[in-house]
Amino acid sequence: MSVIKVAILGFGTVGEGVYRTIQSHAQELEGVLGKRVEVAAVLIRNKHKKRNINEDVLVTADFNEILSLPQLDVIVEAIVNKEPTFTFLKQAIQRGCHIITANKEMFAHHGNELLELAKHHNVSVGYEATVAGGIPVIQTLRQLLNVNRVHHVQGILNGTSNFILTEMREKKQSFVDALSLAQAKGFAEADPTNDVEGFDAFYKTMILSRIAFGEEPNWEDVEREGITSITSELIEAAERLGLRFKHIASISKKGDQIKASVRPVLVGKSHPFYSIEGVENAVNVYTDLVGSITLQGPGAGMFPTASAAIEDLVYVCQNKLTKKYFTKTPAIHLRDKKEHEDELWIIQGLTKDYNNPLITWITQSSAETAIIRTNTELIKQLISEQNIKCCFQILGEFEIESNDKEVTLAAI
Ligand SMILES: NC(=O)c1ccc[n+]([C@@H]2O[C@H](COP(=O)([O-])OP(=O)(O)OC[C@H]3O[C@@H](n4cnc5c(N)ncnc54)[C@H](OP(=O)(O)O)[C@@H]3O)[C@@H](O)[C@H]2O)c1
Repeated sequence: MSVIKVAILGFGTVGEGVYRTIQSHAQELEGVLGKRVEVAAVLIRNKHKKRNINEDVLVTADFNEILSLPQLDVIVEAIVNKEPTFTFLKQAIQRGCHIITANKEMFAHHGNELLELAKHHNVSVGYEATVAGGIPVIQTLRQLLNVNRVHHVQGILNGTSNFILTEMREKKQSFVDALSLAQAKGFAEADPTNDVEGFDAFYKTMILSRIAFGEEPNWEDVEREGITSITSELIEAAERLGLRFKHIASISKKGDQIKASVRPVLVGKSHPFYSIEGVENAVNVYTDLVGSITLQGPGAGMFPTASAAIEDLVYVCQNKLTKKYFTKTPAIHLRDKKEHEDELWIIQGLTKDYNNPLITWITQSSAETAIIRTNTELIKQLISEQNIKCCFQILGEFEIESNDKEVTLAAI
């Protein structure tokens, strides 16, 4: 029986998870592929680290040694940073290997070039592990895209930020204490900037946009805000209204325009993300035919991420990953919809004597904190022209739970 030879780049959380899964699920892989899957080589940086790798596997810090192997079918990449990763993967494709990557930063920047190159060399690229860890969101979207038209995708895409927001709410901790706990538990890097400032979620959002719409917005036009401005007082005040802060990535298509944002928003009990807690991730897709679908699950970790890479391994070996995600989806025209949709916002610093017919006042407290219904364009205008202290969108509908029907954000 012939063999599929795999090289794994990186032997950290993800690389080791892939290595172990190829061993532990050898029977399943052979069953579905009709061939034995064998790890031929592992690329690492530090040759002196002790690792639990079989002796017949080439362990090297020199990528050229891997490229020179007599048989090499698939490269699973689980290292960090854009370079030298991008260069390695280009060389692998040119050699005729299928590639699978978990590296969202590299793939957000260079995914299109890799996909084009792979098309030219008639090999496949798997990148399920770049978005939402173990949740099979890319495969699901790809299936839906056969006929459904995606209107919008929303996601909690960064487990570290979600963990911090959950800890702050449940344990009444400060941002700094919750971040330290995330670091102690291994959920956050020593430098947490990518996670808490929303860069990690931003890269994943751009990858999702390509899958859902065949294109992405101009990166400069995407509002990216992390969770560092969220205080425990804000979280408590929101909770009194039955709302929770979530760091949410949104992408939608209206007409032929793609809009995207990554920012903290508030959700009520009826929103599918209200109960997504800790390091969990979730993705909600809204399409014209099926309506709303939510997938949730582990957004990171050794075996959940290895699961995504291994499922990709099956797809690339079967050459099932088609090239259709290069195609732009048609313009979305919703009947009976206004150009600027009204949304619910909590806003502080706007007094009720500010008169604008485009604002519907839902309720207001004496502390100049109000819930209003208006559109994003007007919110942007208010923020630039008025003395707005804070402002967060509320996703979905919600009931004000306070007895006196007054907003009680005075603590902010
Ligand atoms: N951790 C997760 O749950 C998760 C989930 C989804 C996606 N990802 C993505 O998957 C990738 C890997 O993450 P990870 O958590 O597994 O990282 P990690 O634990 O830090 O491991 C990185 C591995 O890559 C090796 N490496 C780094 N730079 C290298 C280079 N230039 N040449 C050769 N080897 C190099 C390291 O070698 P040494 O061992 O010698 O230092 C290490 O084995 C990242 O892009 C990450 O964003 C991670």
